[in-house]
Amino acid sequence: MMDKRGNLLNVSDLHVVFYTYRGVIKALNGVELWMNKGERLGIVGETGCGKSVTSRAVMNLIEEPGKIISGSVVFEDRDILKLKEDEVRKIRGNEISMIFQEPKSSLNPVMNVGFQIAEVLGKVNNKSIKSQYKAAAEMLEFVGLDSERVMSMYPHELSGGMAQRVMIAMGLAPNPKLLIADEPTSALDVTIQAQILELLDDLVEKMGNAVMLISHDMGVVAEFCNKILVMYAGNSAEYASTEKLFKKPMHPYTTGLLKAVPQIGRTDELKAITGTVPDLVDPPSGCRFHKRCPQTMEICKKERPPFIQVEEDHYVACHLYSQKGGENK
Ligand SMILES: Nc1ncnc2c1ncn2[C@@H]1O[C@H](COP(=O)(O)OP(=O)(O)OP(=O)(O)O)[C@@H](O)[C@H]1O
Ligand code: SF4
Ligand SMILES: [Mg+2]
Repeated sequence: MMDKRGNLLNVSDLHVVFYTYRGVIKALNGVELWMNKGERLGIVGETGCGKSVTSRAVMNLIEEPGKIISGSVVFEDRDILKLKEDEVRKIRGNEISMIFQEPKSSLNPVMNVGFQIAEVLGKVNNKSIKSQYKAAAEMLEFVGLDSERVMSMYPHELSGGMAQRVMIAMGLAPNPKLLIADEPTSALDVTIQAQILELLDDLVEKMGNAVMLISHDMGVVAEFCNKILVMYAGNSAEYASTEKLFKKPMHPYTTGLLKAVPQIGRTDELKAITGTVPDLVDPPSGCRFHKRCPQTMEICKKERPPFIQVEEDHYVACHLYSQKGGENK
């Protein structure tokens, strides 16, 4: 497989496990993804498929009982998994920053908003405290908040939408090369969700940051992203430009997901695919989707489908498109 497919981030053959009392959870089973500078990648898939673990592994933030077993995460030209912790720390929150689903639990409850943003800025540059506060106020205005009022507020005083705006301000304050947003709007009600996404869209457009947007909602990623990675049970199932994925979905799992898209905004849309998410302590052999796939072949039970390129900007891991699968049809 080619080494460098994106000029910003190249994740290859990423394996992550969690050691639990139930056994070893094989959470990521060779994830492949890549991004170019300024690009927006959406990651979609059912609960437990490994979206959050993937994004945390990108920052080398897998904690006990989890472990990155193998693979590489090359950010520009540095393999994040091989750097020393203090080197990774310089990248985190500076070149790569993150915003999460639960903004309030990511904020420090005993510090006011102004201080928290100023603190982020303080890590990035060595300017005086006064100018950090000024920059923090500007960031708050940038995300549509009244800085005079919000600077001195504490997290518990913020509404969900305000808290997420504060998180976005903190995430964008260092002007990161990559912003990772893990379900940034799913805890908010629908009208606020739309406002926050529009805001994020607007700001990253202005600043030119690359964004990795994780979502359950195919409609959301389609609106926001130019590339989409569909994950299934710890694997990259399909990776394509948004246009190609919608025009010509290849993986049977993607086809199932897309059938559910007209119901944008419904949280249960992914249930349109029959069967249940596999137990990753004892994942299905071969293709992890074979027990639910409407097109399963003999080979699917035995061999893991390779992740192959089918055309420009379109990759899939399914035997229907690999040679062996073709022979079996
Ligand atoms: N701290 C942990 N301990 C044990 N298992 C974990 C832990 N974190 C993640 N996992 C396992 O790793 C797998 C992937 O989890 P992950 O959180 O990445 O899913 P996800 O796609 O983000 O799901 P969701 O859409 O619900 O957020 C799951 O099977 C989960 O059980
Ligand atoms: S490899 Fe086989 S089981 Fe897996 S998605 Fe393709 S056809 Fe279905
Ligand atoms: Mg998650």
